[in-house]
Amino acid sequence: MRLRHIPGSVEEIEKSGWVYHDPDEIPSGTGHPLYIEIGMGKGRFIIDNAFSYPDIDFIGIEMYESVMVKATRRLDALPDSEKPKNLHFIRMDAKDINDYFPEGSVDRIYLNFSDPWPKTRHAHRRLPSAGFLKRFHRILKDGGEIEFKTDNRELFDFALEEYDKAGFDLVYSTYDLHSDIEAMKANIMTEYEEKFSAKGNKIYKYTIRRRSA
Ligand SMILES: C[S@@+](CC[C@H](N)C(=O)[O-])C[C@H]1O[C@@H](n2cnc3c(N)ncnc32)[C@H](O)[C@@H]1O
Repeated sequence: MRLRHIPGSVEEIEKSGWVYHDPDEIPSGTGHPLYIEIGMGKGRFIIDNAFSYPDIDFIGIEMYESVMVKATRRLDALPDSEKPKNLHFIRMDAKDINDYFPEGSVDRIYLNFSDPWPKTRHAHRRLPSAGFLKRFHRILKDGGEIEFKTDNRELFDFALEEYDKAGFDLVYSTYDLHSDIEAMKANIMTEYEEKFSAKGNKIYKYTIRRRSA
């Protein structure tokens, strides 16, 4: 993602009530399922999810304050009665995810239009790589799922080679999500999905399920 630094965004995210700054702030035992999105960008997907599913707790994770601040500003601008109570954010690099979420605490993880890191020497930075998936395996509950969407064919083909090594089974995959009428009924668009599908790009998606360790 092209990143424009937004002055004041670091301080704004530090003070924001939408953001968990410390692992101890993440509530446990709420009785609600916990779904997280890693690399949420400006947050359209996770905000729309929080509105659609008020009985699920959502946490959006993003590395950059300048991007996350678009989401917190959008939420701040809502009247109090419309502010979602089931949505928070964490600003962090996903490589540190095991410091934030206990083992077996997450029901579902979304990876949407993850950065492709096309050079082979950067393959370990790709979020659907086996190295990251092993971290995600630890925090997911047994049977927990990861949904991954992208318009990048190389990244998708790479992802299809990785999940088995990290202890996941394939539940669903498509090379043209927007032609799958059944899957589209529950599809919530991301910013990148809208932009790239409008250009005529096909959207690829898989769902993988955690095998018992
Ligand atoms: C290409 S954008 C996609 C944004 C959004 N998910 C969408 O589909 O519109 C990828 C986002 O993931 C974030 N990101 C990439 N690697 C990350 C990591 N290791 N930890 C947290 N966020 C990351 C980037 O900063 C960027 O905002």
